[in-house]
This record gives sequence, C-alpha cells and structure tokens, in this order.
Amino acid sequence: MSDAIRAAADALRRGELVAFPTETVYGLGAHALDVDAVTKIFEAKGRPRFDPLIVHVPNLDAARALFAEPPAALDRLAAEFWPGPLTVVAKKVAAIPDRVTAGHDTVAVRVPAHPMAKALLEAAGVPVAAPSANPFGAVSPTRAEHVVAQLGDRVSMVLDGGPCEVGVESTIVALDPPTLLRPGGIALESLERVLGAVAVPGAEEYTTASPGRLSKHYATATPLYLDPAEAPEGGRRGLLAFEQVSDGYDVVEVLSPSGDLAEAAQRLFAAMRRLDALDLDVLVAEPVPEVGLGRAIMDRLRRAAARRAG
Ligand code: TXA
Ligand code: MG
Repeated sequence: MSDAIRAAADALRRGELVAFPTETVYGLGAHALDVDAVTKIFEAKGRPRFDPLIVHVPNLDAARALFAEPPAALDRLAAEFWPGPLTVVAKKVAAIPDRVTAGHDTVAVRVPAHPMAKALLEAAGVPVAAPSANPFGAVSPTRAEHVVAQLGDRVSMVLDGGPCEVGVESTIVALDPPTLLRPGGIALESLERVLGAVAVPGAEEYTTASPGRLSKHYATATPLYLDPAEAPEGGRRGLLAFEQVSDGYDVVEVLSPSGDLAEAAQRLFAAMRRLDALDLDVLVAEPVPEVGLGRAIMDRLRRAAARRAG
C-alpha cells in the first residue's frame, strides 16, 4: 500500500475529509459512522442537509452489513455490476447516522471499481460517505485538479488517480419494485437484463423518491441551452457537440467524433468546465440519443440548462 493511501485512510478514520478518485467522478469522503465527520462534507460543499449521501464500501459483504434486510436482488446485481458505477438503495441498519441518509430509513451503497478507491476503502476499514467532490450545484470533478481548484482548501488530502474512466456519476436503483432513481454509469438496458423491468419515474416523482435529485444542478457559470432557438443571439458562443463541429460558434468541444456515448460521458464534465472557463456569453449543448449512457448525459445536460432558468 502506498504511503499516500495509508495517510488518507488514517485521516478518514480521524474524522477528516479526503477527496479520492472513483471510476465515475471524484468523491469527497468522510467516515460514514462519524456524525461530525459527515457534517464536514455538508459544510465543505455548501450542501443542504436534506440531500442524502452515498456510502462507499470495498466489497459486497461490507455492503450487505449496511442493509437491514439485504434486497433479494443484491447478490445478482453485485455479481454483474460491482465493483462499478451502480448504487443500491434499501433499508438501512441503525448504525448509519441520520445525517448520512438525511433522515430517511434507507441508505444508498456502492462498491467503486477504481483501484485507488478500493485500496483506500480497504485500508480505512470503515464505510465512507462521499458525494461528488464539487461545491453544491456545480459540475462534478473528473480530475484531481478540478477538486483542488474548487475544494482544495477544505480537505485534508486529495488523492490523484488520473482522469475518471466513466465520467458521469453512478446509476442509483431502489428495489422492490426496481426503480431508477438516477441514470448514470450503468445503462438502464444493462440493469433491466438483471432485474427485468425497471420503473423510470418522471422528473417530478424523482423529487420524492430520491430527495437529493434537485432539478437545478451541474451548473456552468455561462448560461447553457439545449435548444439553440432559446439562446439569446449574438455574443461569444460555445457549442458542446456530440459528434461533429457546427458552424456559427466561436468555440466547439466535440464529445465523441465516433459517436460513442460512453466516450461522450467520459469527456462531458471536463468539456463543460473548459467551455465555462472561456467567459463566453452562451453555451449550447447538442442533445445526444437517449439510449445507454446517453440517458445519463441528457439528465446532466437538462439539469445544467434548468439551473440557468433560475
Ligand atoms: O458516482 C457517484 O455516485 C459519486 C461517487 C463519488 O461515488 N457520488 C455521487 O454522490 O454522485 P452525490 O452526493 O453527488 O449524489 C448522491 C445522490 C443524492 O443526491 C440522492 O439523489 C441519492 O444519491 N441518494 C442518496 N441516498 C439516498 C437514499 N437513501 N434514497 C434515495 N436517494 C438517495
Ligand atoms: Mg453530486
């Protein structure tokens, strides 16, 4: 084990905040059973306390220990998707503080695949609550330098594990009945191969089923539009394109020249940050097909655009 991971694990056990890489986005971690430590996450992010956190553990056994009644499908889901970008929500054990779950009787749990996350969780030996390591409402970090720039002075350590491979957050699923609470790094189609039909609530139902899913999120400072017809005319304009460059823009970021949705997801947040740093007047994001990882991409883009409206 590297000295950095040992030091980060010690810091977590002492109740300090540690940012660490996962395959989806960088997480802002704290000892999940230590209320004071978890409270620091909400303070550092400026996150409202009604928005519950995901608890990260190194393996299925550790995950099972956090659920009061492990769901029947847990083993099948774990065999297929863990370690990886899937978060499972089910009834929690009493040991998990209300601060973590925002008072709900369920807990969201995931086993991340990034080797550094895995090593950290094993070394820490405690469950680690971790939201994405960005100020509340901002674009999620997919590189260590994104975390350093926005939260560097709020954490004891930032572990650098390179760029995140998946690039969008985990898919969140509740069971009995299977319900998609957030589209993410595991495609709905893949989940359905294991679970059968999965309900996909509309945007309004999300707010009760998954309390943290605020519609306005992933905000760029530059106003972002999904429909160029809605964007004000003139000014310096940036385009977040899916496959190819279009005319009429001062800057264009192409997410995937080959039209690969997984590649587009991987590059999405960093491209949004690069465009946002140029001090443009308008950002237009091109819609992508809503299949596979395209669902997660469109979810993030819609919320980035909703943020603009108010
Ligand atoms: O990929 C990810 O999931 C990343 C990495 C760091 O693991 N984490 C992440 O956390 O995206 P965060 O805090 O940005 O999003 C967590 C969301 C909450 O906003 C809420 O929608 C949902 O998870 N959630 C957490 N606990 C829940 C619960 N008990 N019931 C329903 N939804 C829950
Ligand atoms: Mg987040």
